[in-house]
Amino acid sequence: MNVVRLDPKQLLAHAGELADLLVDTVDGGASVGFLAPMDRALAESWWKERAAGPYAVWVAVEDGRVMGTVSLAYPDKPNSRHRAELVKLMVHRTARGRGLGRRLLDTAERAAAAEGITLLHLDTETDSPAEHLYRSAGWTRVGVIPDYAADPAGVLRGTTLYYKRPTR
Ligand SMILES: CC(C)(COP(=O)(O)OP(=O)(O)OC[C@H]1O[C@@H](n2cnc3c(N)ncnc32)[C@H](O)[C@@H]1OP(=O)(O)O)[C@@H](O)C(=O)NCCC(=O)NCCS
Repeated sequence: MNVVRLDPKQLLAHAGELADLLVDTVDGGASVGFLAPMDRALAESWWKERAAGPYAVWVAVEDGRVMGTVSLAYPDKPNSRHRAELVKLMVHRTARGRGLGRRLLDTAERAAAAEGITLLHLDTETDSPAEHLYRSAGWTRVGVIPDYAADPAGVLRGTTLYYKRPTR
């Protein structure tokens, strides 16, 4: 398995595969900003819009197929150049539990540190499997906001906020 960063042109070229991954993730019940059933055309256009930035995307590729992804979203505010939000960490359901998620997370953290980012933050559905990963990777739990977002089935769920100071 290789983890590679996509430049904007490569992101546009891989938007279809990333859309398939987003559809699998949302239809599998994970809360990543969308409702089920996930419309594939919407998923593909959402990824294409990310190519305009400021956004960095990595993909985990196995046997030529995109099986996982993670992104960093950079704020456009002049007072926030030191931080980024870790978003859209997703592993295809058929590839979970084999370390891809941890490897993607580690890759994004190291890249952030290498480019001078000193603070990462994220939010994730409270009590989701991802929480175990973030805690074991050294992220600090800030707290819970109740009823923050609807899960793919439309039910309001809490979100847990985390931050981490990335190191190379
Ligand atoms: C969260 C996610 C990315 C993890 O990917 P993965 O490749 O399965 O994760 P890994 O195999 O690297 O496992 C990482 C850790 O999480 C644990 N884990 C994975 N799935 C789990 C589950 N369903 N329940 C509890 N722990 C789980 C693993 O045991 C491992 O911990 P360990 O090393 O202490 O054993 C994946 O489940 C996913 O895509 N979920 C849907 C999208 C999502 O919720 N993303 C987060 C949005 S903020």
